[in-house]
Amino acid sequence: MKHCTIFMLLCLPVCSAYPLNGAAKDEDPNMDFAQQYLENYYNLGKDVQQVYRRKDNGAVVKKIQEMQKFLGLEVTGKLDSDTLEVMRKSRCGAPDVGTFSTFPGMPKWRKNHLTYRIVNYTRDLPRDAVDSAVEKALKVWEEVTPLTFSRIHEGEADIMISFAVREHGDFYPFDGPGESLAHAYPPGPGFYGDVHFDDDEKWTEDASGTNLFLVAAHELGHSLGLFHSANPKALMYPLYNSFTDLTRFRLSQDDVDGIQSLYGPPPASPADPELPTQSSPLESGTPAPCDPALSFDAVSTLRGEILFFKDRYLWRKLPWKPKPEFHLISTFWPSLPPHLDAAYEVKSKDTVFIFKGNKFWAVRGNDIQAGYPRSIYTLGFPPTIKKIDAAVSDKEKKKTYFFTGDKYWRFDEKSQSMERGFPRPIADDFPGVDGKVDAVLQTFGFFYFFSGSRQLEFDPNARMVTHIFKSNSWLLCT
Ligand SMILES: *[C@@H]1O[C@H](CO)[C@@H](O)[C@H](O)[C@H]1NC(C)=O
Ligand SMILES: [Zn+2]
Ligand SMILES: [Zn+2]
Repeated sequence: MKHCTIFMLLCLPVCSAYPLNGAAKDEDPNMDFAQQYLENYYNLGKDVQQVYRRKDNGAVVKKIQEMQKFLGLEVTGKLDSDTLEVMRKSRCGAPDVGTFSTFPGMPKWRKNHLTYRIVNYTRDLPRDAVDSAVEKALKVWEEVTPLTFSRIHEGEADIMISFAVREHGDFYPFDGPGESLAHAYPPGPGFYGDVHFDDDEKWTEDASGTNLFLVAAHELGHSLGLFHSANPKALMYPLYNSFTDLTRFRLSQDDVDGIQSLYGPPPASPADPELPTQSSPLESGTPAPCDPALSFDAVSTLRGEILFFKDRYLWRKLPWKPKPEFHLISTFWPSLPPHLDAAYEVKSKDTVFIFKGNKFWAVRGNDIQAGYPRSIYTLGFPPTIKKIDAAVSDKEKKKTYFFTGDKYWRFDEKSQSMERGFPRPIADDFPGVDGKVDAVLQTFGFFYFFSGSRQLEFDPNARMVTHIFKSNSWLLCT
């Protein structure tokens, strides 16, 4: 457990979550502490207490082994220092054993559209920081399920979110600073689905205090019906690691499997009927940069960087750093969907336009511009065009090229209109570019056409393909 530096305590009110300070002051405080811990979290019967003291400790050893196994420790059956260390960390109050990744009876919401309401706020953070942490946390689950959430400001929402201290009207009073951080109720009517945060914690946007986004994402997993996971990489693991690098946050496959066992995967976009559901990257996991078969959904420059979009992720290639960074798209733009179709930058406007289906968004830095998404038909496409495969904007010529099937369209950035005489066959004007175009990048005076795992470097002056690379050549795979 050496990789886990700070643990946070994430509690469920569905079972008792009492602090561990009830241990008797005995000749061996470790044993009493362990006893209490195993009683609380591993269903160690009270009767075992005597047995334990006589060192006839079969039951306790078994429980310790069970716990070590669950928490990914070396299974010794002994209270070694690693084990005690973990036991002393803050943790969630729900038992770790005898449970699966869902609640008993698998309670789940019987509808896919849920409402939430932020009932009140902590004083630790500005309100919009709380709003956006909650939004981002909901997005984590929205992306991998058919669930959608909308916020209401009055009345009873499915998920009522509040901050409270100590006794706050349910049977699970908070415990002041530390230990218990929050708890949530599984799906159902009334208080079910609700999330309570302990306002005696110091809630922060970064990892300096208790990170609100991470705790909210975990608790909302409970609100949606997930119980704890035994996988230390999972968001639903009860011992919660405060990540130092929050930009790398992502759901583990285990979390995705858990939530999809209740709600299934997100529906394929109606604008993208050929999206292969079996080989959906959501099921096949995180894309690997050095997979020779790697293809991209979209590629764009952004303020001197190059962004390679793939599924829910993007690689970000910074000019001063050889190794690209890997992020969830939602880290930068929480409201953008996964599986994008196309993206291009208009440098003169400091704006990147991002396409999926018949919609597009305009982003500037981290901000999605107001009034978006807009319909692609506002750009002058006919209704027969349901989506765009790839797009690139030529900053010298002030023209944007849109690729759809084996044709392309040209949009004039000055007049903001689609040019006459288009679409034209790609093969006529970009000889040598064949196959479906997934993404296009313009840089160093070349166009780079990505087609599956193949990348064609096209010299617009010579009007020919000058090199063929692997698509992932930018990600420095050697
Ligand atoms: C916030 O709302 C909850 C639930 O209604 C309540 O228990 C708590 O005391 C409220 N907190 C504050 C600071 O008003
Ligand atoms: Zn929990
Ligand atoms: Zn509560």
